[in-house]
Amino acid sequence: TYIVTEACIKCKYMDCVEVCPVDCFYEGENMLVINPNECIDCGVCEPECPAEAILPDTEDGLEELLELNTKYSEEWPNITIKRDAPADADDWKDKDGKMEHFSP
Ligand code: SF4
Ligand code: F3S
Repeated sequence: TYIVTEACIKCKYMDCVEVCPVDCFYEGENMLVINPNECIDCGVCEPECPAEAILPDTEDGLEELLELNTKYSEEWPNITIKRDAPADADDWKDKDGKMEHFSP
């Protein structure tokens, strides 16, 4: 499966939702997550994200983010249509350590 990482927080460009063939993105206040049980591993969303926030969960150290994607994709609403990104999205794009800004 692919998952959304903390790089999405406060960026939320939403380019990813337009390309997913199975509509498995879910929307929180300031980030999206992927439902790992619905993702078919096609990989088309990965290069679409301007923040490079989408990764295959086979990369090291992503266990907690896989759990976060699983948990919140069951709680948050499905999103299939791209809206405008936050006005300050570009200011957050290259910031590290955004997990402290996560809003469930
Ligand atoms: Fe959707 Fe494919 Fe991305 Fe999975 S890898 S979230 S199926 S676009
Ligand atoms: Fe987030 Fe990238 Fe999608 S910033 S909303 S994962 S395009």
